[in-house]
Amino acid sequence: MKKYWWQEIVMYQIYPRSFQDSNNDGIGDLQGIISRLDYLQKLGIGGIWLSPVYQSPNDDNGYDISDYEAIMSEFGTMADMEKLIAEADKRDIKIIMDLVVNHTSDEHQWFIEARQSKTSEYRDFYVWRDAQENGELPNDLQSIFSGNAWEWDEVAGQYYLHFFSKKQPDLNWENAKLRQKIYEMMNFWIDKGIGGFRMDVIDMISKVPDQKIIGNGPHLHDYLKEMHHATFGDKDLLTVGETWGATPEIAKQYSNPAHHELSMIFQFEHVGLDEIPGKSKWDLRPLQISELKQVFSKWQTELGDEGWNSLFWNNHDLPRIVSRWGNDGDYRVESAKMLAILLHMMKGTPYIYQGEEIGMTNRPISTISEVNDIESINMYQERLAQGFEASDIIHSINAKGRDNARTPMQWDASNDAGFSKAEPWLPVNPNYQTINVAAALADDQSIFYTYQRLIQLRKKHDLIKFGDFELINETEAEVFAYRRTYQGEKWLIVSNFSEQSNFFTFDGKVDKLIIANMTDLSLDLNHKLLRPYEAFVVKLRG
Ligand code: GLC
Ligand code: CA
Repeated sequence: MKKYWWQEIVMYQIYPRSFQDSNNDGIGDLQGIISRLDYLQKLGIGGIWLSPVYQSPNDDNGYDISDYEAIMSEFGTMADMEKLIAEADKRDIKIIMDLVVNHTSDEHQWFIEARQSKTSEYRDFYVWRDAQENGELPNDLQSIFSGNAWEWDEVAGQYYLHFFSKKQPDLNWENAKLRQKIYEMMNFWIDKGIGGFRMDVIDMISKVPDQKIIGNGPHLHDYLKEMHHATFGDKDLLTVGETWGATPEIAKQYSNPAHHELSMIFQFEHVGLDEIPGKSKWDLRPLQISELKQVFSKWQTELGDEGWNSLFWNNHDLPRIVSRWGNDGDYRVESAKMLAILLHMMKGTPYIYQGEEIGMTNRPISTISEVNDIESINMYQERLAQGFEASDIIHSINAKGRDNARTPMQWDASNDAGFSKAEPWLPVNPNYQTINVAAALADDQSIFYTYQRLIQLRKKHDLIKFGDFELINETEAEVFAYRRTYQGEKWLIVSNFSEQSNFFTFDGKVDKLIIANMTDLSLDLNHKLLRPYEAFVVKLRG
């Protein structure tokens, strides 16, 4: 299989609102990002997935776009954006734009015109339905952000579809003119020199509302092939689709280069392992490590050479991994490093979410008034009305709410963590005095240097990028161990996914240590007692 640049790098996700404020209005911005590029270069990443920076009324923090070809004024100007692309390029970092084309803002010009009249050329860019004869909603489709997915529009005299907030009307991809407009917009960005696109909820674009088909609709892959040919097909860009319902089979449809669709997708099977099956993300159950092992192993082996994985623990929609599946108390440093080693030794393109590389944690809240995110706020109201206890809902928000990952980046121990000199739009996590970039850089045993080393290793060793993966099954349930093999070379990756000690037994011989999260490591693997969250990688002999 041909090798691509995006198979050889580590990506880094920036949530601009929370990364670095440069003009002290409490909101992160593009100049702020530019000022931190040297830090990212030191970490060693090869690309930035930039969450949306387009003009937006911010009902869903930029995922509701009112102009795809303008920059949100709070974030800066188009000149700042061009500067960011150029400055990143100087450091061999590509900028991957967030492409949010399942829906727009209701303040987008297309929607403003569409709702005015049934004869508007934009009417059919969105999904409209009349009320049923008895006056009821077109059907009972639910919004992912709670409540009904249909909203009555007085001006239009019809219902429109919104799978997210009411201010995010869904686009109608069946309209060929709309699709052309989107491709033109993508080319506008490609011409600016970006490195690719992360495609927001892309598996929803071929919905069939009357049949209640939301994801993986009938024309999804036709649209992606059409998009590929009309835009990035001959450009050597990174494209990654957000696809909540993907299976390995579906992933191959998207990411087999022979199909001319995307470079890779984000699949979420591992992310759902701590929710009650058949219920929502807010209905919690403990993670079973044995299931986590099976899910990763399945994805690592089943794509084979016919597709490409992305590797991630968290993003702007998910809680902080060290709080979620590690230990953000006594073992914060050990467990964060264990999680990093375990993921970064797999095959695929790893994505680091801002702050993960210094072990940032969730920020617990105690009342709903502290919550900013529309998803949590709507869910809270809905569940209260359904009779849930407020304290149980808050418990779910603390475990899964999206604000956890969105608190400002912790740069140093000064006020508001060096993020801003004004009050930040979302409060800084109070632990910033100990957990911050300055402290991490000053400590050669910090989580940061584990990530830096993992990135260097990936650059250097084709085994990490392209080797085969094999789960080692004969271990204790909470020991996650696997072997990578490439051109006769074998590496063993072992991690104790637990705050208890666990035994690991292996009869191969160790050639040398590659990386570990603890010192005083005995390399006698015959009957090794792993300390809580211990993780290491060794090259095996012969
Ligand atoms: C994606 C984004 C999320 C957003 C939603 C609607 O899931 O990652 O942040 O709220 O789509 O655009
Ligand atoms: Ca600012």
